[in-house]
Amino acid sequence: MNRALTLAKNGMGRTSPNPMVGCVIADSSQNIIGEGWHKKYGGPHAEIEAINNAHENNHDVRGSTVYVTLEPCSHYGKTPPCAKRLAAEGVSRVIIGMRDPNQLVNGQGIKILEDAGIQVEFADDDIMSQCKLLNKGFIFVHKYHRPFVSLKAAMSLDGRMCLDNNSSKWITGIEARTEAHVMRSENDAVLVGVNTILNDDPELTVRYIEGVNPLRVILDSNLKTPPDAKVISSDNKCLIITSENADSEKEKILIDKGARVARAAVNHNNHIDIKSALEYLASQGVLTLMVEGGPGVISSFLSNKLADYVKFFIAPRILGEGKGISLNMNFADVNSAFMLSGVKSRLCGNDVIIEGRLSCSPDL
Ligand SMILES: NC(=O)c1ccc[n+]([C@@H]2O[C@H](COP(=O)([O-])OP(=O)(O)OC[C@H]3O[C@@H](n4cnc5c(N)ncnc54)[C@H](OP(=O)(O)O)[C@@H]3O)[C@@H](O)[C@H]2O)c1
Ligand SMILES: [Zn+2]
Repeated sequence: MNRALTLAKNGMGRTSPNPMVGCVIADSSQNIIGEGWHKKYGGPHAEIEAINNAHENNHDVRGSTVYVTLEPCSHYGKTPPCAKRLAAEGVSRVIIGMRDPNQLVNGQGIKILEDAGIQVEFADDDIMSQCKLLNKGFIFVHKYHRPFVSLKAAMSLDGRMCLDNNSSKWITGIEARTEAHVMRSENDAVLVGVNTILNDDPELTVRYIEGVNPLRVILDSNLKTPPDAKVISSDNKCLIITSENADSEKEKILIDKGARVARAAVNHNNHIDIKSALEYLASQGVLTLMVEGGPGVISSFLSNKLADYVKFFIAPRILGEGKGISLNMNFADVNSAFMLSGVKSRLCGNDVIIEGRLSCSPDL
């Protein structure tokens, strides 16, 4: 199962809206005779890749044990159901990392296997939680109809993301910025508020490492994004979420420049309603979302309790007044304030990374 998990991760950034899945086939002596993973959306599933790999090496999979990180599928999607293929191949045992939360499958794959006389077992709790963590976005979209949201912020020792005059380049060092590019490559989309575009003109792409560029999303109620902003490029991966009332002339200019524009509901402050924006992103196949700022947008995700994970980069500086990450948030007592669980911390250059799961995040 550990090998299957490692294989699954090879699909990072390429499988959404499908999950990442890995599969290992072992013979009766527990020798690996086939392995595979779901390489990209629309491509063969991990089980089929592993069966093909075994056949290519002249191995017979009859009587074998199949280790797969997610319940084999039972429905005709882009490809025929894997559970039926496993039954037709005559495998004896299937060990599953986690049940498929997709209502089209959810137990149906297991039923097909058991009806064919195949012994089905679940992996142990530790493996199961690793499988769930790997596909947290897939689980969230099926369970909660929104992506799994990770907040990334660079801040000073006094919790400030920028100075009063909005300047923030660069609070943290180059090592921290490289980590941020890794995080971008691990998420389907990265989101900022329009002020960050106006003040910093970021590209929001993956450049310091090898990796897939995420969809770049801007919350911009009045279409203030400049048509020549760097974030818009010809790759059709910049999405501006605006309000129903935004000017359609501006929309046309932005679309001509290569941006996609979507309309969403606004909240009582006339800002984009975060929940509506997240539901829209889920409908577009975004399973995991990284929110990069600035303070206004990060604060909105926190105060709406629509954030699941934080990764904060804390620089050894004191910035004084300026903007913090939890604007307009107040708690009656310390116990009701947000906590992190599963906290990890480490030094990154001269900065400290603290990350963990937010207490307001629902179960996987
Ligand atoms: N340290 C860091 O990690 C970091 C990261 C990013 C940015 N920054 C700094 O942050 C500064 C900008 O911060 P900021 O707080 O002014 O702006 P921001 O968070 O980048 O953008 C805020 C703007 O986004 C729009 N928006 C739409 N829907 C929203 C919603 N639900 N909640 C909040 N905003 C929404 C609003 O403008 P409309 O009403 O016009 O839509 C709002 O004024 C930048 O200058 C940059 O230097 C720092
Ligand atoms: Zn399948």
